[in-house]
Amino acid sequence: MPDAEAAARSRRAMTSTTSTPSLSSLPPLAPSLAGDPLSPRRGFGQTSRRGAWWGVPLGTFVVLGTFIVYATWAAFQGAHYTFGPYLSPFYSPELWGPSPHAWFGPKPTWWPEGVPFSAALLILWAPGGFRLTCYYYRGAYYKAFWADPPACAVGEPRKSYLGENALPLIAQNLHRFFLYLALLFLVFLWHDVWKAFWFDDGAGGTRFGLGVGTLVLALNTFLLSGYALGCHSLRHLVGGRIDQLSKAPAQRRAWSCVSCLNTRHMKWAWASLFSVMLADLYVRLCSMGIWTDWRIL
Ligand code: FES
Repeated sequence: MPDAEAAARSRRAMTSTTSTPSLSSLPPLAPSLAGDPLSPRRGFGQTSRRGAWWGVPLGTFVVLGTFIVYATWAAFQGAHYTFGPYLSPFYSPELWGPSPHAWFGPKPTWWPEGVPFSAALLILWAPGGFRLTCYYYRGAYYKAFWADPPACAVGEPRKSYLGENALPLIAQNLHRFFLYLALLFLVFLWHDVWKAFWFDDGAGGTRFGLGVGTLVLALNTFLLSGYALGCHSLRHLVGGRIDQLSKAPAQRRAWSCVSCLNTRHMKWAWASLFSVMLADLYVRLCSMGIWTDWRIL
């Protein structure tokens, strides 16, 4: 019997040391942890970070905000978006419009009366939607524009997390479809670059040439290509969905190329944002006679 009692005591001891205590039985947090910045209950802006964590979201707010204001203004102008063989990327492709670049002629008859017409308004929703739903930009503007959170390990001004599974943020899942459109737009933009080499010869024809505007449009399209071809959705499309990439050499090569661009996706995103704005500005200033396009050839 003493052996049986000892065995029972041993079992009780083992049970008490190996069972998991319930949460309610845990002691309350020590007072020193109550305001811990890693606590999920930290208040808006509360953090233990010592550096200027607000610098990046503030810079994002200023730069992205400037771009949005400029692009909206430029899109509503409906004028000064072409100069010689150059076409502003904000207006490409020009489906309907007054310039010789228009595919289907001038302003369509079905355009509503009283609504200002601009060729850019017909197409800018596609590249705009692509950028708006970009995985990188989401991370940037969620922080900069509605502090969700303002930065890593910094308290945000709300208590619940709704994610991207309800309106309106569920629309972010359209990114892959915007990608298909963006790839199509790249074809149009490279075609614009090709056309930017052909200048009026003064006799009703064209002749090959090279202007600073040609280089501006080519650089912009190169940067836009680097941005779009490094897209996370494209990476998945060309190889990420395959279980054994080693057995699909073509997809593996494509996946490696996209991955190479993808590692610097943020840099491509910002560089192409600046370039597309500057390309429009360049064409606009030349068209308005404020800037002179220097011909190299
Ligand atoms: Fe940025 Fe697709 S993730 S463009």
